[in-house]
Amino acid sequence: MSYKLLKQITSKINGKIALSFSYQAEDTAALHLLLQCNIKSLEVFTLDTGKLFEECENLHKQTEEFFKISIKRYLPKSDDVKNLENQLGEWGIRESLQNRHLCCHIRKVEPLERALKGKSAWVTGLRAAQSVTRNELKIVEYDEKFNLFKINPLAFWSDDELFDYIKEYNLPLNPLYAKGFKSIGCKPCTRAVNEGEDIRAGRWWWENPEHKECGLHIRGTRG
Ligand code: ADX
Ligand code: SF4
Repeated sequence: MSYKLLKQITSKINGKIALSFSYQAEDTAALHLLLQCNIKSLEVFTLDTGKLFEECENLHKQTEEFFKISIKRYLPKSDDVKNLENQLGEWGIRESLQNRHLCCHIRKVEPLERALKGKSAWVTGLRAAQSVTRNELKIVEYDEKFNLFKINPLAFWSDDELFDYIKEYNLPLNPLYAKGFKSIGCKPCTRAVNEGEDIRAGRWWWENPEHKECGLHIRGTRG
C-alpha cells in the first residue's frame, strides 16, 4: 500500500489514531507511511510487557530520534504481575496454553485495552503472510472488541517488500533480525529460527501454529 491510499483512509477517520509499535520491521514501515499522512491526532504506543529484549529497548530510543516522535509505554498493572509471578513462577507459561494466555492477558491485552480507549482507529503492522491465523486479514477492518477501525497497511506485503522498503528509506531495524530472528515478541517466548523455517516458528515454539496468537488480534471482525 502506498502512503497516498493510507492518507485517503486515515483522512476519513474522525478522532485519534493510534499505531501499536512492537519493535518489528512492520511497525517501522507502517510508522513511516503514517507520518506522511498529515494526521492531526496520532499516538504511537508500545505495550511494555516487562519482558522485552534489550535490543528492543535500544530501538525505542533510536526510533524516537529517527522519526522525532515519542513512543508512549503502556505497562501491565504491577499487582497483577506480582500475582502472576507468584502463581506461575518463571517458566509456568510453558506448562499450559491457559498459563501462557494468562500472562499475555496481563502483560499485553489489558494494557492494550487501556491504550485503545478513546481512539477511533488502530494501525498495526499485521501481514497475512505471517501466519495461518492471519490469512483472512484485510487492510481496513472494524474491530468489534475495541469498537474502532483497525487499519493494517501492510496486510498484503511480502517479506521481501517489507525489507526492501526498510532498506530503501534506511529505516532503523531491530538488530535481532541479523541474529536469525524473523518475528519478535517477548524474550521468554521468542527465539531465532533456521533458514527456511516459518517466520513465526520462533514464537511460542512449543505450541501448535494455530495457537500462536497472544489475544491482541482477535478475529471476528467485519471488513
Ligand atoms: S502477536 O499477537 O503475535 O504478539 P505480532 O508480534 O505478530 O503479534 O505483531 C503484530 C502487530 O501487533 C504488531 O505489528 C503491532 O502492531 C502489534 N503488537 C504486537 N506486540 C506489541 C507490543 N508489545 N506493543 C505494541 N504493539 C504490539
Ligand atoms: Fe508473557 Fe510470553 Fe505473552 Fe510476553 S509473549 S506476555 S512473556 S506469555
